[in-house]
Amino acid sequence: MVDHEFGGQHTELKLSIVEGYLQAFTTALRPHFKHLWYIDAFAGTGSRTVRTESKGATLVEAPAAEIVEHRRGSARIAIDVRPRFDFLVFIEKNANYIAALNDLAAHNLQRSIVVAKEDANTALQRLVGTNRWDDKRAVVFLDPYGMEVEWATLEALASTEAIDVWFLFPLAGLFRQATRRLTDIDESKRAALTRMFGSSAWEEELYPVEDADLLGAIPERRRDLDPRGLEAYVQKRLSTIFGKVLKPLALPVHRGPQMFSLFLCISNKTPKATALAMRIGNHLLDPKRHLIKSSATK
Ligand SMILES: C[S@@+](CC[C@H](N)C(=O)[O-])C[C@H]1O[C@@H](n2cnc3c(N)ncnc32)[C@H](O)[C@@H]1O
Repeated sequence: MVDHEFGGQHTELKLSIVEGYLQAFTTALRPHFKHLWYIDAFAGTGSRTVRTESKGATLVEAPAAEIVEHRRGSARIAIDVRPRFDFLVFIEKNANYIAALNDLAAHNLQRSIVVAKEDANTALQRLVGTNRWDDKRAVVFLDPYGMEVEWATLEALASTEAIDVWFLFPLAGLFRQATRRLTDIDESKRAALTRMFGSSAWEEELYPVEDADLLGAIPERRRDLDPRGLEAYVQKRLSTIFGKVLKPLALPVHRGPQMFSLFLCISNKTPKATALAMRIGNHLLDPKRHLIKSSATK
C-alpha cells in the first residue's frame, strides 16, 4: 500500500460532496447515455492515509497508540459509484502513485479503466481533442495541490458541452501569488497567474490603474480584493467559458482562513441539463447543510 497523506478535515467533506454528485449523475443520466465517463486528472493513489497521533496518558484518559487508517480516495470512490461509470480515466504524474492506481485497476479487471502517467493539462487537452462528445457525458475532477490547472485546459473541457467539472480551486495559492502590490509580482508569479487566467487581463482587473491625486501623484497599483472578492473574480472568469458556474463552497467550512473554493462548472449550455446539474450541485454545495452537520456532530 503506497501512503498518500494529503488535505485535512475539509478533504473528507470535499470527497463526500463529489461522491454525492457522481451518484446522482450516473443515476440521472444512465437511462439516456450509453457512455458515462469519469476522469480524475489529479488521481493520487485511490486511497488516503489518515494518521491520528498517539496520545500520552492524562489523569482522566488512558494513553492512545497512533492510528493509521486507509480511507477511499477519489479514484476508488468513482469505481464504487452505482450505477457504474462505463469508463474511468485516472491521470497522475507521480510514478509511485501510478503503481498504486495500476493495482487498483488490476483489482477491478471487469471495469474499463485507463491509468495514464502524464501531466494533467496535456492529458486532458488531448483527451478532449481526440474524442467525440455528442454521444457521452462525463465528470472531470480537478483536485490539484496548487495552481497546476491551466486556462487552456478549462477552455478545452468547457468546449465539449458534455463535461461537468468539479474544481478544487486553490484560493490561498492565488492570494499568495497575487500579492497586494503589483510591483511585488515577479516574472514567475506573473507567468503562473497568466497561465491560470488565460490572459494578462488580470493585471488590469485585479490591480486597477487609479487617477492621479490632486498633486498629480499616481497611486501605486494595489489589489484591494480580499479572498471572497478573489473568489468572486475567479467565478466570473470561469463563467466566461462554462454554461454555468455554481457559487463555490469555501473550505474549510467552519474555520478560517479559507484555503480552497470548491467549484462545479457545467459545460453543457442547454437549460434542461444545466437545471438538473444546478439543482443537485447547489444542494451539495450549500454551506448551511455542512455547518449544521458539523455542529450536530460536535
Ligand atoms: C490532492 S492530490 C489528489 C488526491 C485525490 N483526488 C484523492 O482523493 O485521492 C493531488 C495529486 O495530483 C498529482 N499531481 C500534481 N501535479 C500534477 C500534474 N501536473 N499532473 C498530474 N498529476 C499531478 C499529485 O502527485 C497528487 O497525487
